[in-house]
Amino acid sequence: MKQGMASKERSNVRPNLSCWLWLVGILLVLHLLIMEARGAHSAEPLTRIAFGSCANQSAPQPIWDAVLELDPNLFIFLGDNIYADIKQPNKMVGRERTVGPFKNIPRFWAVSPEELKLKYDLLKHGQPGYVALRKKTQIVGTWDDHDYGLNDAGKEYEGKDASQQLMLDFLDEAPDSQRRKQQGVYAAYTYGPVGKKVKVILLDTRYHRDPLRSDGTMLGETQWRWFEHELQNSDAQIHIIGSSIQVVSNFSAMSQPFFSMESWGMFPSERSRLYAVLRDTNTSGVLFISGDVHFGEISRFDCGLTYPVYDITSSGLTEAVEEKYAFPFSIALALGGWVLPQTMRVHNSRCTTNTCVYGHANFGTFEIDWDANPVIIDANVRDIHGNPVLGETIKLSELQPGYFKSQAVRGRHVKRHCTLESELPWYRKYILAITFIGTLTVSVGTLLMLLVLIAVRLTRRTVRSLTFKED
Ligand SMILES: *[C@@H]1O[C@H](CO)[C@@H](O)[C@H](O)[C@H]1NC(C)=O
Ligand SMILES: *[C@@H]1O[C@H](CO)[C@@H](O)[C@H](O)[C@H]1NC(C)=O
Ligand SMILES: *[C@@H]1O[C@H](CO)[C@@H](O)[C@H](O)[C@H]1NC(C)=O
Repeated sequence: MKQGMASKERSNVRPNLSCWLWLVGILLVLHLLIMEARGAHSAEPLTRIAFGSCANQSAPQPIWDAVLELDPNLFIFLGDNIYADIKQPNKMVGRERTVGPFKNIPRFWAVSPEELKLKYDLLKHGQPGYVALRKKTQIVGTWDDHDYGLNDAGKEYEGKDASQQLMLDFLDEAPDSQRRKQQGVYAAYTYGPVGKKVKVILLDTRYHRDPLRSDGTMLGETQWRWFEHELQNSDAQIHIIGSSIQVVSNFSAMSQPFFSMESWGMFPSERSRLYAVLRDTNTSGVLFISGDVHFGEISRFDCGLTYPVYDITSSGLTEAVEEKYAFPFSIALALGGWVLPQTMRVHNSRCTTNTCVYGHANFGTFEIDWDANPVIIDANVRDIHGNPVLGETIKLSELQPGYFKSQAVRGRHVKRHCTLESELPWYRKYILAITFIGTLTVSVGTLLMLLVLIAVRLTRRTVRSLTFKED
């Protein structure tokens, strides 16, 4: 009996042990396979990165064909990836007025999470170009106001948590991802092997943002600490920092009092902090990318860090100023672009427009030549056919802390973009307002003069005919 039990026990033990051995073996093999896959993934450096913003999910999106053609290793969404909110037409008169001093209803309305999901699905499953890109390319992204839920919205927007989950569903974020548990959609990714690493840091400029014109916070304290941590613990050679809104250009400084555009410039204290964090962490190889404004632009600021700070703005994949406004507004727009001083904009021979602004549908690209010495980053804004329309070739050796000083020591003069738009003399800064008021005054003046002339003629004629009759 006892023996039988013992042997039974032994026979029980043996299969258990072999089960364990098998399990351990399988786990080991799996682990090795995963390491191998990861190694293979990180062994290849990123060489082609594409990015874009502002895509109307209900409109045709032919631009994806050009993105596909370029075959990027990575695509980065910079916000307004869909237009979730509902826009009312501009109306200054009538029962429902959406603009002007007598407006009585808001111009933008938020939609329910169910409707938001339907709109995401239109892009994710309904745009054939995007469907194809999703199959072959890694896609990451952040959001801006219209996919967050409401035009120009910040931390006060009530639908933000529902929006966050739906946005992460759209990007196929894992159910247990930290990004689903935190407040906001900020994220960081590192690609490539040692010595050829690219770190992509995507900021959330919505979830924690204080009201416009408050000069309050843009990122919120938690995100700021996370951002610093990501920079401190980075061994990447290139840092691509995605911000939905422009970092370098402060368009609002010159479009006053007609309209303003959201940007880091509107939060001057936060913008100073952004540069300070990058300086304090001695981060090299920083390149900002942004969207939002419905045109493409490359800007550069040389007094934020000790090396040039580029901001490559690509906007939008479908939404672009020159496609929205028909004649004669398009003329006014071109004129505006021409008279507005842009102290930060990069002007070079690669611009295909006089103003070095591109107002049609576009996407942005970085092509990195890791084998060149020094490493070369070719930044471009490309049109719907993939042709470069704005571009700048950037040497990675220039994006190093202390660059300006090292050039000065060698007696080399570097032309620096340092004049802030807000520091321009009034007659340049308010050129738009001056042009507008000037044109208005001249037009109204001419019209009045014409009217007076006609009136004088008519009176003369009447007087003459009266005199004639009297004769
Ligand atoms: C998106 O495109 C559709 C179809 O062209 C249009 O009806 C709609 O107004 C557009 N939405 C926005 C936000 O521009
Ligand atoms: C940007 O322009 C606005 C409006 O003129 C101004 O309040 C702000 O200080 C400017 N920001 C920077 C960084 O110059
Ligand atoms: C900062 O980075 C530069 C260039 O990458 C390097 O030469 C310098 O030693 C660094 N400074 C500190 C304080 O780490």
